[in-house]
Parts: sequence; structure tokens; C-alpha cells
Amino acid sequence: MSFRTASLRLARIAGSKASTSAISKRALSALASSAARPTLKATTPIVGARGVKTINFGGTEEVVYERADWPREKLLEYFKNDTLAMIGYGSQGYGQGLNLRDNGLNVIVGVRENGASWKAAIEDGWIPGQNLFPVEEAINKGTIVMNLLSDAAQSETWPQIKPLITEGKTLYFAHGFSPVFKDLTHVETPANVDVILVAPKGSGRTVRSLFKEGRGINSSYAVWNDVSGNAHEKAQALAVAVGSGYVYQTTFEREVNSDLYGERGCLMGGIHGMFLAQYEVLRENGHTPSEAFNETVEEATQSLYPLIGKYGMDYMYDACSTTARRGALDWYPIFKDALKPVFQDLYESVRNGSETQRSLDFNSQPDYREKLESELQTIRSMEIWKVGKEVRKLRPENN
Ligand SMILES: NC(=O)c1ccc[n+]([C@@H]2O[C@H](COP(=O)([O-])OP(=O)(O)OC[C@H]3O[C@@H](n4cnc5c(N)ncnc54)[C@H](OP(=O)(O)O)[C@@H]3O)[C@@H](O)[C@H]2O)c1
Repeated sequence: MSFRTASLRLARIAGSKASTSAISKRALSALASSAARPTLKATTPIVGARGVKTINFGGTEEVVYERADWPREKLLEYFKNDTLAMIGYGSQGYGQGLNLRDNGLNVIVGVRENGASWKAAIEDGWIPGQNLFPVEEAINKGTIVMNLLSDAAQSETWPQIKPLITEGKTLYFAHGFSPVFKDLTHVETPANVDVILVAPKGSGRTVRSLFKEGRGINSSYAVWNDVSGNAHEKAQALAVAVGSGYVYQTTFEREVNSDLYGERGCLMGGIHGMFLAQYEVLRENGHTPSEAFNETVEEATQSLYPLIGKYGMDYMYDACSTTARRGALDWYPIFKDALKPVFQDLYESVRNGSETQRSLDFNSQPDYREKLESELQTIRSMEIWKVGKEVRKLRPENN
């Protein structure tokens, strides 16, 4: 088949996939390892004292802040008069809350009494009446209110929460969603408080596990409202306190647009769609399930993607056979051209609030957990993922 024909076919397939795209659960963003490529000399000039560095990212200079800027003693001193009220105990509440507690900061958790999160918090050692409270009580005690409710719940509960965010407090988010799309969420933040965000680029489970390993998640931070004049510094300090290894600056708008876009694209939705398309074509052409899975997912996740994560895309090309290299070099522009219009549609759908509206509509339903579970059950029962379960058992380390 000529590349042109193939390209047209791909564009058609990509178009139909886009129109049937389903809401996926919150992204578990892939973490790029910071390991340096061993055979290459570093080309990134690093300038700056302490850990604050100006780094040339492929021609654009950006400042990053690192854990070295905020040693534990400095964090303890900086937040010595603060009570950090963590509202919500989902994935981020768990990761950020336990890291703050282990860092020795004065952190309390606020969740619905006797709900699933209340029980989970008790299992993790939070004590009712001591550092675990109903939401409103925790907000009243806090000087820094960390709103880590689900994005839909932030919108639902805002009428009760807003009057409690009084002058002198700081309001913290882990996503730009609520303030940026305020026309849809109705989260109109008070004008007389600092409003900041720290967005870890990964699941709260990873925020916790990397911290425990002595490593750190990469996060972005942003300032929506700087009343005190210290909002930037406070956000950088909080980013480190919750377990970030380094943090780069963004805006609330850029954070929410890139995050919603990324998780629907390469991080989750896009990659899932691509796996399914490749697997189905292999199966339709007579390949066995194990072969189709190995050639689609297992080799990707076990052999090739870790090389990209550790050393870069060029290194992965270098590490493959001349045959594989030639084919991939010929085909990547075809995939890119076919998929770019889908990504453009996706970005627009994020930017114009459609994705936010869809998320609010779905996740505000009282039975959203049951509905989500039924969609996940559909994924679980797909042949490809059932095959994956068996293939993983065959890995020697799982025997
Ligand atoms: N997860 C990630 O990978 C990730 C990464 C970066 C940033 N973020 C952001 O971090 C924030 C929290 O996300 P998450 O994934 O940790 O949390 P989540 O699982 O989406 O939300 C869980 C929390 O919301 C509470 N909740 C839900 N509905 C409620 C209601 N009507 N009233 C009161 N509480 C309610 C739950 O309490 P109950 O148990 O009582 O229902 C639970 O504590 C969001 O802004 C998200 O976008 C998430």
C-alpha cells in the first residue's frame, strides 16, 4: 500500500475513533525518569545558585525550583504558623497529605464524616478530632485550605465552602479546572486571599511512592491571586512540601488545558485507542492473542517505552534493528499527519469548556461511581486486556 493510501486510511480511522471517544478516568501521567543518557554529553546549560536553575529547554529558557531550595528545616520554619487543611482524601489527598505529615508539617484532613475517604484516612493513621475533621471544621481550622475534592465536588460544594475562605487564608488547588472554567463550575474565588495551585504530574499514589523512595514527582505551580505578595514563594514551598522533586511555573489556564488534553491524548485515551487499533488489525489477520498482545503492549511497556523514558526517542531508534528503524522512520510522519487533526479537535474541545462540562455532568451524578465501574468492566472484559493478564503472569519475576 502506498503511504498516501495508508495515510488516508489512518485519517479515516482516527476520525471515527475521535467521534466515539469516551470519558476516561483521571490520568496517571507517565513519569519521565531524570536519568541522564550515559553515552551523550549533557547539552543543557544549568545556571543558578542553590537549586533554582534556569534551564534551556530546547531553546526556551525556563526557571525550575528544586527540593534543594526548600530543605526540611526551611519548610518547617516557613510554615511554622500554618495549619494545612487538606480537604478531600482521594488519590492526591492521600499522597500529598501523608507526605506533608511525614515532612513534619501541621496538616489536618477534612472529609465527609463516615464516607469512604473518612474510613481510608483512619486506616492511614489520621485520628478523628485530632487531625481528621468534617470538611467545614477543617476549613475553619486551616490557614492554607487545600481543595483536593474531586473537580465535580469542588463545584458542588463551593456555595458552602466559599464563605469559609476568609481573609488571610490561602486557597490551594491541584488543578486549574475550577477557577478557570468558573462560568461552568461557579467556583468564583474570593478576591482577598492568595489562590495558588500545585499540580503533580502523576497519580497521588506515585506522589507518595516516589517520596518514600527518596525521589520526587515533577509538578507545575501557578498563582491565580497574589494578595500577600508571597504567593509564588508559598506555592513553590508547598510543591516541595507535598513531595515534588522539582517544580516549573505555569498559569492556571495552561495547566488545565495541557492536563485535560494530555490525559485524553498520549497519556491515556490516545494510547489506549492506538493499542486497540493495532491489536484488532493483528487479530483480524490471523495472529494469535499472545502474539498480538506481545507485539502491541508487552514489548512497548517492557522494552521500548522504558528506553524512551530513560534515554530519549533517538536512543530507542539507535537501540533497534536497522529494519525496525527504517520502518518506524517511514511511518511516524504518517501517524503524525493522521492524528494531528484529532489532537487539534481535542485541544479545542478542552479550551472551549466542552470537556469540563462533560466531566461535571458525568461526575456529579449520584451514581457516577457505579457508571464508571461499568465502563471499566467493559475494558476489563476486552480480549486484549484479558490476554494481558495472562501474559504478565508469564514474566519470570511473576512466576
Ligand atoms: N488523581 C490524579 O492523578 C491527580 C493528579 C493531579 C491533580 N489532581 C487533582 O487533584 C484534585 C483531587 O483529585 P483526586 O483524584 O485526588 O480526588 P478524587 O478521587 O477525584 O476525589 C476524591 C475526594 O472527593 C470527595 N468527594 C466527592 N464528592 C464529594 C461531595 N459531593 N462532597 C464532599 N466530598 C466529596 C471524596 O470524598 P468521599 O470519599 O467522602 O466521597 C474524596 O475525598 C482534583 O482537582 C484533581 O484534578 C489529580
